[in-house]
Amino acid sequence: MSLIASQNKRIVILVSGSGTNMLNIAEQCAEQRVAGKVVAVIANKADASGIAKAAELGLETAVLAHRNFTSREAYDQALAELVTSYQPDVVVLAGFMRILTAEFVQPFQGRLLNIHPSLLPKYKGLHTHERALANGDTEHGVSVHFVTEELDGGPVILQAKIPIFDGDTIDDLQQRVHEQEYRIYPLVVNWLCNERLRLTAAGAELDGQLLGPSGYAAEDE
Ligand code: GAR
Repeated sequence: MSLIASQNKRIVILVSGSGTNMLNIAEQCAEQRVAGKVVAVIANKADASGIAKAAELGLETAVLAHRNFTSREAYDQALAELVTSYQPDVVVLAGFMRILTAEFVQPFQGRLLNIHPSLLPKYKGLHTHERALANGDTEHGVSVHFVTEELDGGPVILQAKIPIFDGDTIDDLQQRVHEQEYRIYPLVVNWLCNERLRLTAAGAELDGQLLGPSGYAAEDE
């Protein structure tokens, strides 16, 4: 592994909303706590506030509006072309609220990460905090995983748990989950930048060790 190469990994981040995870990762890159640099931030809608925040930071931004496409596949192909134009080593989905088809996933397989606000495989899809509360769960959390063609189904790399207390609201869970997201997502992005992570047919590997269903450190639970 070349030190120079690992310090210069090109990261493209995709957002749909407020982009706080994107900002956190960009900051950690700027502080050299993540061995990469954010070369572009892309949104699927012009009003994603994360795009304005990225522009304020002086990051390259682009919007590819899904509304202008008639099929999911056509959008994903155009998105893949746009992302490819930035020659990324790592592609980070940070609150990018789109179901992705093979057109997008395949070109970036093994270098495409997502963060999902639940302890996968629990609560794939939307409204995870609401569902955890409605089910009376006492713990909840967040997962970083490799993206595959199965929605929220790619191998988990790292999870963080949070407690759920009596009387908690959706906002309480969202805030608690966000705090954990800001800890674990940069860590995983850094592992990928440093070529410590690999997606294999058997699952996710860290330093050559196959990770379990809950990702790294599952044995400590
Ligand atoms: C994050 O909590 C992330 O886990 C979630 O969207 C939020 C984005 O926040 N992602 C998903 O729900 C993906 N299915 P941010 O825009 O402030 O980073």
